[in-house]
Amino acid sequence: MVRRGVPVYPLVSCAFFFILAVAVACQSEASVSTNDDCISCHGRSDLVSIRGKSRFIDPLRVANSAHAKKGIGCVSCHEGITFISREERIPHRRGIEPKCAECHPKEAGEYDKSLHAQVSKKLCYSCHNPHYSVSFRGMSGDERKGICLKCHDATRTHLWLPQKELHFNYLECTSCHSLKAQIGMMIFMVDKTERSKEAVLTYNQLQPFLEAGKSPVETLDRDANGTISDVELFSFMKSIKEGGIPTAGLEVRILVLNPVHDFSSKGEKARDCTLCHSKDARFYSTILLEVPEKDGGFTTFPVEKGILVSRGPFMGDFYLLGESKIRPEDLEELLLVVRRIGFKWLDVLGACLAFFTLAAVCFHALLMFLTRNLRRRTANIAEFTTAPIAIRVWHWVHGLCIILLLLTGIQLRLPDVAPIFATFLNAVNLHNLSGIVLIIDFVFWLSYQLGKREFLRRYFVSPRHFFSDIAQTLHYYGYLIFVGEDFPKGIREYPVFDPLERSYFLTTMLVFLPIQMLTGLLLMDMNTTMPIIRALGGMRVVDAVHLLFAYLFASSMIVHIYFHTLKRFRGVAGH
Ligand code: HEC
Ligand code: HEC
Ligand code: HEC
Ligand code: HEC
Ligand code: HEC
Ligand code: HEC
Ligand code: HEC
Repeated sequence: MVRRGVPVYPLVSCAFFFILAVAVACQSEASVSTNDDCISCHGRSDLVSIRGKSRFIDPLRVANSAHAKKGIGCVSCHEGITFISREERIPHRRGIEPKCAECHPKEAGEYDKSLHAQVSKKLCYSCHNPHYSVSFRGMSGDERKGICLKCHDATRTHLWLPQKELHFNYLECTSCHSLKAQIGMMIFMVDKTERSKEAVLTYNQLQPFLEAGKSPVETLDRDANGTISDVELFSFMKSIKEGGIPTAGLEVRILVLNPVHDFSSKGEKARDCTLCHSKDARFYSTILLEVPEKDGGFTTFPVEKGILVSRGPFMGDFYLLGESKIRPEDLEELLLVVRRIGFKWLDVLGACLAFFTLAAVCFHALLMFLTRNLRRRTANIAEFTTAPIAIRVWHWVHGLCIILLLLTGIQLRLPDVAPIFATFLNAVNLHNLSGIVLIIDFVFWLSYQLGKREFLRRYFVSPRHFFSDIAQTLHYYGYLIFVGEDFPKGIREYPVFDPLERSYFLTTMLVFLPIQMLTGLLLMDMNTTMPIIRALGGMRVVDAVHLLFAYLFASSMIVHIYFHTLKRFRGVAGH
């Protein structure tokens, strides 16, 4: 057997051609390693597909994205693209296999159950731009809303929601549509210039007010206890205001802190308005301040809850119906009146007013009862005129509206303890409706009465004897009535109503009621009336006036009803 040697030449030539082939291939086809490989083509703004669609990917925005910051490159998602042949018209294979679920299993799991997943096959990246997504924590409320507004026109729905624009202004969509999400109050330091758009203060703007060598958070949290108190925050804001940014202030938004991805829950629960309109609203548990950082980003820092009660001059207009109610501890606070004089003291004052009125009326009634024997013989059946039918209709509509307004008002103030009309929404709607009816009723009354001599005869008190007449009437109700005597002679000259009733009536109808109607109208659609509300001193002032007069109405209602029954009982006069 002839043992032949291994043919060396063919092997060598094979190897040569292989190496040559690889070397040639390397010029037109390369394996991909970095984003730059892709950006070299896709960073050109004129790159289009065969069909003419833009295939441009903005390198700057990519570099800013949450993914790029964590080193997730093009091929982490476009896994299928492994080789690029630069000579082909289509240089690499096509097709996109979004792999969002692999790295975001929590979100994908929550999302699978939602209605969106059933409708949209493109899952995640119809809401999140896959290339330019930034962390939602760095997004403003408007930007977050923008995600949803791309597909949903919320201005044409939610007709049932009172103060719709106001809600959309303060809340992002998901704070109602993702009920399992954790939401919180975010406070921003802003420059409230005349322009309606408020700009968040940047690090550079705060810089002059920082203590040497300290970050904004360290400057703010002076006692370094890990939270910012109202005093710390307000004194810092004061230094900014006085130090060159007079329009500096604070703004509040309700934002999602920990998202849950089932957004298509129809939001039924959000129709239970006490989710937010109550002292125990979910978001009160977390109050954060957004603080700008040196690198252009933001951090959030916890703020003490006291900020809600203390209401410094910087808290803007944020204030929720049902936000505060009276608690036993508040009585202790009353002692610290000056610093803590907050809004809820109106409730305390109002409740006291109503209580003392009721007590006074009861006392009067008791005296009447005890002295009944003194009056037995003198019971007088004086003139008992009935008012024209128009006035009687007006009177009962008026009364009904006031009662409804008071009852719904109680629920609006104390949503947790007084669910009189089942739901908060009912209360708001009924309150608005009664308010409108009351206004129409008032206009009717005014146009009916204007220019009528009868009006003067019934309701006017001669200004010359005003004080003496009032004093005599008081004397009558405070003493003479018990001992069975009639009105003093001067007072008897007033037909139908005595001077006290007249002045009570005219003040309520021509002063209290117009103020109440006006503030009520302003509060009914605050989004349109905001410029006027601001001019009057802000939402809290307008609402305070509204509330104060509501308590006055409630008290005067008690007196009114009492005197009316008293007179019926005595047979003196009526409407
Ligand atoms: C040599 C230039 C070039 C390079 C390098 C390149 N691409 Fe492309 N890419 C193109 C062109 C041209 C198209 C349009 C193809 C067409 O007509 O549909 C395209 C299309 C795409 C598409 C859309 C495919 C489809 O189904 O419509 C994706 C995704 C893509 N490229 C991703 C990448 C990624 C990721 C990289 C980096 C690994 C990369 N490309 C590198 C030129 C390039
Ligand atoms: C987080 C995953 C992810 C990363 C990282 C990513 N892409 Fe994409 N890319 C996608 C998805 C998903 C689509 C499909 C988008 C669609 O259909 O709306 C897509 C689509 C594209 C397209 C088609 C055109 C378009 O805009 O829809 C191009 C081109 C593309 N990517 C290029 C790139 C390049 C270049 C990079 C790196 C700079 C990159 N991608 C990084 C997920 C990603
Ligand atoms: C209907 C729109 C929508 C869809 C679809 C959607 N997201 Fe989101 N996603 C949001 C919004 C909005 C936020 C910000 C939180 C908020 O405002 O409630 C968010 C936040 C996130 C976050 C940050 C979560 C965190 O806790 O830090 C990730 C990650 C995320 N989405 C991934 C995904 C993935 C993955 C999918 C697909 C399975 C997806 N998203 C589908 C709207 C959507
Ligand atoms: C290779 C893994 C990976 C893939 C695939 C991936 N992501 Fe991410 N994604 C990440 C990482 C890591 C972060 C950064 C998380 C962080 O900063 O806490 C992130 C962040 C995000 C954020 C911002 C989160 C925030 O804090 O608000 C969104 C939105 C997001 N991804 C959406 C997507 C979408 C949509 C897809 C599919 C097109 C996708 N991701 C695919 C790993 C991935
Ligand atoms: C890519 C388009 C798109 C985006 C972005 C989007 N949605 Fe949707 N959404 C839909 C579609 C399509 C439906 C189902 C059709 C329908 O019922 O209107 C739907 C349904 C809903 C529903 C349920 C409606 C019902 O009748 O039950 C709610 C609630 C909802 N979306 C809220 C949101 C919120 C909140 C966001 C923002 C986080 C958002 N959507 C973002 C397309 C979108
Ligand atoms: C105050 C809470 C709240 C806010 C804020 C809110 N929604 Fe809703 N939304 C609801 C409730 C509750 C429903 C259910 C309506 C019903 O029962 O008829 C709903 C219904 C919807 C629907 C279903 C359409 C319909 O009327 O049947 C869509 C879509 C929707 N919301 C999108 C949005 C978007 C987008 C935003 C942000 C601009 C948003 N929502 C803000 C509470 C809210
Ligand atoms: C997710 C939280 C949330 C839900 C749910 C909610 N609201 Fe509000 N509401 C707010 C915020 C925030 C404001 C703005 C507060 C401000 O003006 O300072 C507001 C304002 C209002 C106002 C204007 C007066 C005020 O308190 O400032 C009314 C009236 C109102 N909401 C009624 C309702 C009704 C009725 C519902 C239920 C159908 C409801 N809200 C559900 C958060 C909510």
